[in-house]
Amino acid sequence: MLKTSSEIQNVFRPVLPSHPHYLQKVLDTKGVDIVPEVQVNSLDDLIAGIHSVLGSDSGLGEDLVKVEKVKALMTAYKASANDWKYFANYNGCKYTRNLVDAGNKKFNLLLLVWGKNVKSPIHDHANSHCMMKLLNGELTEEQFDMPHAGSANTDTEIMPKKVTKLYLNDVAYIHDKIGLHRINNDLEDVHSVSLHLYSPPYDVCKVFDDKSGSATTSRCDVFFDGKSQCNEENVSSGITD
Ligand SMILES: [Fe+2]
Repeated sequence: MLKTSSEIQNVFRPVLPSHPHYLQKVLDTKGVDIVPEVQVNSLDDLIAGIHSVLGSDSGLGEDLVKVEKVKALMTAYKASANDWKYFANYNGCKYTRNLVDAGNKKFNLLLLVWGKNVKSPIHDHANSHCMMKLLNGELTEEQFDMPHAGSANTDTEIMPKKVTKLYLNDVAYIHDKIGLHRINNDLEDVHSVSLHLYSPPYDVCKVFDDKSGSATTSRCDVFFDGKSQCNEENVSSGITD
C-alpha cells in the first residue's frame, strides 16, 4: 500500500548535504566534460533525458558513450526530496525496491529505500548495467572480484577490492565485468535512498556467501509497483539491489 506524502516526509529527515568531493561533472575517456544535452532540474527531467538518450527500444548495451551520457544526466540531477518522496515506500523491511519508471523494456528505474544500519548480500547484476545515484543519506559500496571462473564454490573468503563511500548526489556504476558489490547503509538514524537504473531490467541474480564464495540464485522483485507489496518473507529470501 502506498504511503501518503506526509508519512514519507517524516521518515526521511534529515537529508544530509552533498559531500565536498561532489563535482557535478562527468569526464569522458579523454578527460573532456560530458555536458548533458538537456537541462536536468527535476526527477522528471532526468527520466525524460534518459529516455531521450536510450530511445524507444535500446538500452546501454555495449555502448560506453551512452553509459557516459546517462551518467552525466544522473550526475547533473540535484536530488530533491519533493521529487522522489512519492516513490519512497518503506514498511520496515531491510530495504524496498520501488518502481519509478518502467523504461522501454531495455531499462528501468527503481528507487531503493534502505533501512537503518542494513546491508545487501554480495551480488552480481545478471550481466546488466547498474547505475545508482544517492538521493538521501549515505551508502558504502564494497566491490569484489568474481570469486570463481565457472565453479559455484571455491571455499575462499571474498574480500573487497574497493570500498567507496557514497554521499548525496554521488553516482556509482557497476557491471559484472567490473565485479560484484555489496551496499551498506551504515547510518543508524537515517533511511538512505538511492535511484537505480538497470539496463536491461532483471528479476533474478546471484548472491554470494562472503565466507565461501558459493553462489545461489536470488529473486530481485520490484515491490510497491502498484501490484505487489514488500513483505518479510520476500526480504528474508535475500532481495538484492
Ligand atoms: Fe547491486
